[in-house]
Amino acid sequence: MAMRIVVGGDNAGFNYKEALRKDLESDERVDTVEDVGVMEHEDDTSYPNVAVAAAEKIARGEADRALLICGTGLGVAIAANKVKGVRAVTAHDLYSVQRSVLSNNAQVLCMGERVVGLELARALVKEWLGLEFDPQSSSAAKVDDIRAYEGD
Ligand code: RB5
Repeated sequence: MAMRIVVGGDNAGFNYKEALRKDLESDERVDTVEDVGVMEHEDDTSYPNVAVAAAEKIARGEADRALLICGTGLGVAIAANKVKGVRAVTAHDLYSVQRSVLSNNAQVLCMGERVVGLELARALVKEWLGLEFDPQSSSAAKVDDIRAYEGD
């Protein structure tokens, strides 16, 4: 299934967001890539603004996944998780990236440009694209518990 991906980040994540967006654009598993900013390093729009803009696209069904980059990957995850229906994680290792989709059905992956090497981030995003949540798995009921808390 070709995916619609949103990318975004603040100025602390700008360089990685640009590099990872280019990778996504050339990956045949990706249908569309939408960039919600920031569009230049000098733009000091705060991380919650870009994170919420991306997360709202997921919540409205306009995108399947989002990749958000800030300095640590923490602030964008906190902000994205405020949007109802969105599950965002910060992950910089293979197992966490895998489980974020397979266990948590997270639609949003967040990374920190000041935390992880670029080549590792690129490899993790490549892995992430190949992961799919199984709604028949034993994890599904736990994700449903999150939805229930949100009143879904
Ligand atoms: C810089 O504003 C930095 O605080 C931000 O990019 C992020 O790391 C926040 O969690």
